[in-house]
Amino acid sequence: MIMKIKKAVFPVAGLGTRFLPTTKAMPKEMLPVVDKPIIQYAVEEALASGIEQIIFVTGSGKGALEDHFDKNQNLEKTLRDRGKTELLHTVESVVPSKAQIVYTRQSEPLGLGHAIWCARDIVGDEPFAVLLADDLIQSDVPVLYQMINEFDRLRASMMAIIEVLPDETDKYGIIEAEKAFNGTMVINSMVEKPKPENAPSNLAVIGRYILTPRIFKHLGKLKKGAGNEIQLTDSMSALLKEQPIFGYKFKGTRFDCGDKAGFQLANLAFALERPEMREKLIPDLKVLLSQMGELAN
Ligand code: UTP
Repeated sequence: MIMKIKKAVFPVAGLGTRFLPTTKAMPKEMLPVVDKPIIQYAVEEALASGIEQIIFVTGSGKGALEDHFDKNQNLEKTLRDRGKTELLHTVESVVPSKAQIVYTRQSEPLGLGHAIWCARDIVGDEPFAVLLADDLIQSDVPVLYQMINEFDRLRASMMAIIEVLPDETDKYGIIEAEKAFNGTMVINSMVEKPKPENAPSNLAVIGRYILTPRIFKHLGKLKKGAGNEIQLTDSMSALLKEQPIFGYKFKGTRFDCGDKAGFQLANLAFALERPEMREKLIPDLKVLLSQMGELAN
């Protein structure tokens, strides 16, 4: 029987140290790009890809995220009373109407691999998706939808891949792979955050995965790897000895919102997509850049 990908895990229990002090009392995943938290973009991508169950792996201090995806009766009543119909619709539509949301906790931020392992009983024995909100992607077709289509053909684990600059390999999981067809590659090996001189390629894994439930067997061994965290890449390497894993070069532009510069660029790119903001921003940006140029001279 062919199994549909119905469940998506969203690990959101990290500390977000790169955004301190903002993330001292606020979840990193609630940082806004224009006017929406980055986690909402990821959830919308999953819903548009046919996901029926959203599984958040949260931790302490993530209450704002849970409130965001729940009804806010007072706010909705006020907006209704004031006739703010459009805003009311915006607020109401954050809560998925067709999908179910489930929460579990990672009691200590021991790493991405450990966070996914925390969802094992909710996922059960079926293939599932993992989305990291840090990786915000602009695309015509949702990236997870592109990957699910490919999964339907291959029935194997799959990771979204981008090409990075050679000196950036130590920020990513890097794969060694052979091209199979179109954007799909057969992975031979992978390594977490290699120094540029040791990197097998410049093909980096980003935060969209489809995994077979077999991964939980390896995550369950829970050994700490690079950065003293329980890494997903280490379990994926172990899984690769038993099952094929594919890399998928998606169509779209990815922004690294876990990084301060990447986050600012995402805000600009998404704002420039909105005609009303674009009209105002482009002239202002030109002025700003020319003033900065003058300052530099
Ligand atoms: P990052 O590697 O970006 O870590 O996590 P982080 O803690 O969020 O941020 P920095 O590096 O300290 O600034 C990628 C995703 O995995 C989740 C995070 O919440 C983020 O969505 N994560 C990470 C967990 O859920 N648990 C962990 O133990 C680590």
